[in-house]
Amino acid sequence: MCSPLSFLLLVLPLVVKVSLWGKDGGRDHSFFESKIRPVLATKCYECHSAKASKVKGGLRLDHIDLILKGGDTGPALVIAKPSESLILEAIGYDKPDFQMPPKEKMSQQVVDDFSQWISEGAIWPDEPIPTFLLDPFLLFH
Ligand code: HEC
Repeated sequence: MCSPLSFLLLVLPLVVKVSLWGKDGGRDHSFFESKIRPVLATKCYECHSAKASKVKGGLRLDHIDLILKGGDTGPALVIAKPSESLILEAIGYDKPDFQMPPKEKMSQQVVDDFSQWISEGAIWPDEPIPTFLLDPFLLFH
């Protein structure tokens, strides 16, 4: 059903697009791309992204606009204010009834990285909000 050619035809335009999205005025995304996005993708997207079978807490974390909009409780991030950002409260693991990711406390280094990223303006590349239709996995399963 999912032949290599159809997969290629689907993925190729995405790859081309992604390389174009990178150009948004030359802001430095290296901290975000190396310290923040990989953590979100591996630790949060299972439950908080277009990929999640059911989005938890009404919150998606796969685009800054959605993070700022927030979930059931309100905005998940306040730019330049880590102490007011729900996302940091969640990964800080201080509240016994609100800890993210639910099963595994992340290292203090990761918490510090998020704090720094939020303090510095929560820079996120200028890219479109991911949609369900763009995910080849979901299209073919
Ligand atoms: C296994 C699923 C799962 C994973 C993985 C997960 N979460 Fe959650 N998350 C939930 C559930 C369920 C809720 C809603 C219930 C609650 O608030 O405890 C939630 C709620 C939240 C909320 C509050 C949303 C609101 O507005 O009420 C935040 C913020 C949050 N998660 C952040 C994160 C972050 C950051 C990560 C990754 C580091 C993460 N979550 C990983 C399941 C998950």
